Amino acid sequence: MLIKNACIENVETLNDIRIEDGIFKEIGKVIEKPDEDVIDLKGKLLLPPFIESHVHLDTCLTAGDPVWNMSGTLFEGIECWSKRKEKLNREDIRERVNRVVRMYAANGIQFIRTHVDITDPSLTAMKALLELKEELKDVMEIQIVAFPQEGILSYPNGKQLMIDAVEMGADVVGAIPHFEFTREYSVESLDFALKLAADKNKLVDVHCDEIDDEASRGLETVATRALELGLYDKVTASHTTAMHSYNNAYVLRLMRLLKMSRINFVANPLVNTHLQGRIDTYPKRRGVTRVKELLAEGINVSFGHDDIYDPWYPMGNGSLRDVVFLGLHVCQMMGYEEIMNSYKLISHNAAKTLHICDHYGIEVSKPASFIVLDADNYYDALIKDAVVLYSYRNGRKIAENTPSERKVLF
Ligand code: FE2
Repeated sequence: MLIKNACIENVETLNDIRIEDGIFKEIGKVIEKPDEDVIDLKGKLLLPPFIESHVHLDTCLTAGDPVWNMSGTLFEGIECWSKRKEKLNREDIRERVNRVVRMYAANGIQFIRTHVDITDPSLTAMKALLELKEELKDVMEIQIVAFPQEGILSYPNGKQLMIDAVEMGADVVGAIPHFEFTREYSVESLDFALKLAADKNKLVDVHCDEIDDEASRGLETVATRALELGLYDKVTASHTTAMHSYNNAYVLRLMRLLKMSRINFVANPLVNTHLQGRIDTYPKRRGVTRVKELLAEGINVSFGHDDIYDPWYPMGNGSLRDVVFLGLHVCQMMGYEEIMNSYKLISHNAAKTLHICDHYGIEVSKPASFIVLDADNYYDALIKDAVVLYSYRNGRKIAENTPSERKVLF
């Protein structure tokens, strides 16, 4: 198959791509062969597939069931979820995750890192997600984080549940230091999680300091252990919203450690602008970590959706465009280059976090996985909220959308 006249990753000069046996064979000016299937993109934007680097698939599509989160806080969300967990079962999870994965696929996402709540003695969600990961692998690569929603030390048998989840096949070890009962538990939970990951050769993704408390400093422990254990970029700190409230003198000192540790960050602008600042009067904090400053220091940051219609977020549609759009606003990253390159927050940067760069990207000899947007470049795509015209995975089309037609009658 030959893809002609593609605007690849915003490059103005149009190029062609030949795909054979599900692999990118040639990229550049390619001579058409007789009888070859040809798609002429006429200058449309071609990107590597989008990547969801932070979501909770097990909780998606449960908002209001059995109760709504009325305060809009993270902590009431955890209480609501705790009630919903009581009626969790395999079929319930399978039905919701299958729906959400298709929402994501329609929006050009082909890779998902999902956190899965393991503070459940039966590990129902973990078992269901491991099944779904295998069943859906041809259309969606799913990476599973064993996520201790109610704590590792602050939940009965929390350490053993984490060990069990890793033994069952979780790809990533999680933690939630700001939810542990004490600062000592917080540090011990991180010591445990990162040591376990090092021993079992797993990645790490910590829900880290997702709170407006400027004294919440799990991040320095995560970064220090990543450095000391040699885990480096295998470690990710998600949310880190307390960093928004740290004093600048502390951040100046912290930034040196963060660079030395080489850890990744994931910010979730939709959900954290909604959850954070809830007990502020005015001014109300924006609640998103220091994305612009981290990127300026050469630290890897990606954006995630986090929640789709669940106790922590009553909206969401599986489109990372909205995540990027809002994130650029609240992080004040509205310069021309920042807007044009912002697709990297949900593509290349996320690929580094997921450690999938060996099979990701528009490069000869890599799997022919890509998306085409109804836009001239990514700036144009953001402004127009452009649809994903096609999503190809390993050379096979797995989703397509038709642009809606709008008529103005004057
Ligand atoms: Fe999260």
